Amino acid sequence: MLTDSTRTQDGNQRALIDVIDVKKSYVTNLVTTPVLHGVNFSMQRGEFVAIMGQSGSGKSTLMNILGCLDTPSGGDYLLDGKQVSALSRAQLAVLRNKTIGFVFQSFNLLKRMTIQDNVALPLIYAGVSRAEARRRASQQLENVGLGEYGQRQPNQLSGGQQQRVAIARALVADPPLVLADEPTGNLDTKTSVEIMSLLTRLNREAKQSIILVTHEPDIAAYASRLVRLKDGLVLYDGPAATGLQQMRSEQSEQELGMPANEVSE
Ligand SMILES: Nc1ncnc2c1ncn2[C@@H]1O[C@H](COP(=O)(O)OP(=O)(O)OP(=O)(O)O)[C@@H](O)[C@H]1O
Ligand SMILES: [Mg+2]
Repeated sequence: MLTDSTRTQDGNQRALIDVIDVKKSYVTNLVTTPVLHGVNFSMQRGEFVAIMGQSGSGKSTLMNILGCLDTPSGGDYLLDGKQVSALSRAQLAVLRNKTIGFVFQSFNLLKRMTIQDNVALPLIYAGVSRAEARRRASQQLENVGLGEYGQRQPNQLSGGQQQRVAIARALVADPPLVLADEPTGNLDTKTSVEIMSLLTRLNREAKQSIILVTHEPDIAAYASRLVRLKDGLVLYDGPAATGLQQMRSEQSEQELGMPANEVSE
């Protein structure tokens, strides 16, 4: 029988991400500040999850842990079935390269490299030959509508185009998971819509799993599931539409000083 690495021994679909009671504290000047107080969260392949929460609620801290850029102070994190805390630095780097593509608010493209070489970089790190890496980078640039732009430098592109390059770079090694921390934070509304349409298409057509942090309800509305953090705990985890409706009610309650269900239409 063929073995399928995305399934457990009893044939069930294995979660891509399993966060079990994850805690995180930072220690600065001998003072310990707890940030995550026991976060539980799991995600299947192909899901599109938005993470929201006030500034300082721990969103980026959680994303850094999910991306294996930082380690939890307590609890367990399983990525693609592997216990991350049990891995050596080298094993972690391999797992990260293979499993995750990152998209940041500030694009993080290398200024002195062409667009094509920026996109090819994760493949070069993975040991793919330069010629093959460039070929696949060009293909991925086509996929995000930037096939003509491969030989330009990042500063010769608009902000939205640079973010599309960053998405192409995140996808080029075909990772099962894309982590995006406020990918539209530096973009205007029209460009944000373009980026979100692209991510939605990748999720629907390529079944790309996506976790995206945002402050904007309009952006979170593109996701199918919403996770809200408050003071380092999960406040809501469920359908995005329901969660966003709940947020709107809370806001009108605050603005009007009375429960939303008492406000006449
Ligand atoms: N490296 C660090 N050392 C010490 N404290 C940190 C560190 N990184 C984050 N913090 C603290 O942890 C808390 C959560 O930070 P985090 O960056 O996760 O928030 P966030 O939800 O992403 O906020 P924002 O919406 O502003 O990006 C904050 O109080 C922050 O000051
Ligand atoms: Mg943040």
